[in-house]
Amino acid sequence: MESNLQVLLLHNQEKYLDGTADLINTYWSRSKAARLWTLEKSCDKLPCSIILVLTENGKEEVIGHSRVVEAQGADNACYVETVVVKSDLRGRGFGRRLMEESEKFASCKGYKQMFLNTIDKEKFYSHLGYTESHPVITLGANASKLPQHMIDKLTQTTTRCTPSLPPPTATALPPPSNTVGAPPHPNPNDFTITTAAPPPPPPLPPTSKKCQPTEGCNTHVMELCCDPSKVTWMRKDLIPKVSS
Ligand SMILES: CC(C)(COP(=O)(O)OP(=O)(O)OC[C@H]1O[C@@H](n2cnc3c(N)ncnc32)[C@H](O)[C@@H]1OP(=O)(O)O)[C@@H](O)C(=O)NCCC(=O)NCCS
Repeated sequence: MESNLQVLLLHNQEKYLDGTADLINTYWSRSKAARLWTLEKSCDKLPCSIILVLTENGKEEVIGHSRVVEAQGADNACYVETVVVKSDLRGRGFGRRLMEESEKFASCKGYKQMFLNTIDKEKFYSHLGYTESHPVITLGANASKLPQHMIDKLTQTTTRCTPSLPPPTATALPPPSNTVGAPPHPNPNDFTITTAAPPPPPPLPPTSKKCQPTEGCNTHVMELCCDPSKVTWMRKDLIPKVSS
């Protein structure tokens, strides 16, 4: 059987937007419009969606996706989220390839470390060289709208939410509208953040199970699980790009 695998940046290949949205939605269900809205933000800088397109016997299909976004709370850091491989093709090296390409992309952009969080794929990531770390925050494009002192404050004030993790510098914020696929904000300029401590979350029903996977192991996990101790933050030093 003839097959060919391409690694592409989604924004250069808009014809794959639909297939990418469908792939991600098979694992993290969300409205197609909201999903497309997030994916359409992919660009040459960050956020950037990287996709794997497999062609077999003339049939093309998006079989993998990851998104690299900016991270605050660590030097030269970025964050990878929404890592997914089509279910019937898992275990064939595509997840590794996706992560390697994400790391290569980030390294080429000058980033020195990659962060992620997960609730149930620690072994996969540690196999690829990731180790447990402190959390970071992802403000996406909103970061440029905030003065540095406020970002510093945010990364500090939130550390008390993660008592079980190694010395953190930050934890996740409620998802910024530009990185997680929420419907468009009615007025993107009307962006305010309060640093006051949020009210305590309502008690969860008792459960012995870990919470279900949610959107891309990203900041939604914090909201939906209401228990940051269930989230493992991981990081990896990126191999610097060698200029030829
Ligand atoms: C996680 C995921 C992307 C892995 O993709 P994959 O294509 O199955 O992974 P690969 O086949 O490339 O595996 C790469 C290596 O990791 C290992 N590995 C994969 N999943 C693993 C797991 N759950 N535990 C331990 N090792 C694992 C493989 O054995 C392989 O090792 P090798 O390269 O030394 O042979 C895929 O399972 C997936 O899409 N899951 C659903 C979405 C998800 O949970 N994403 C992660 C969100 S945090």
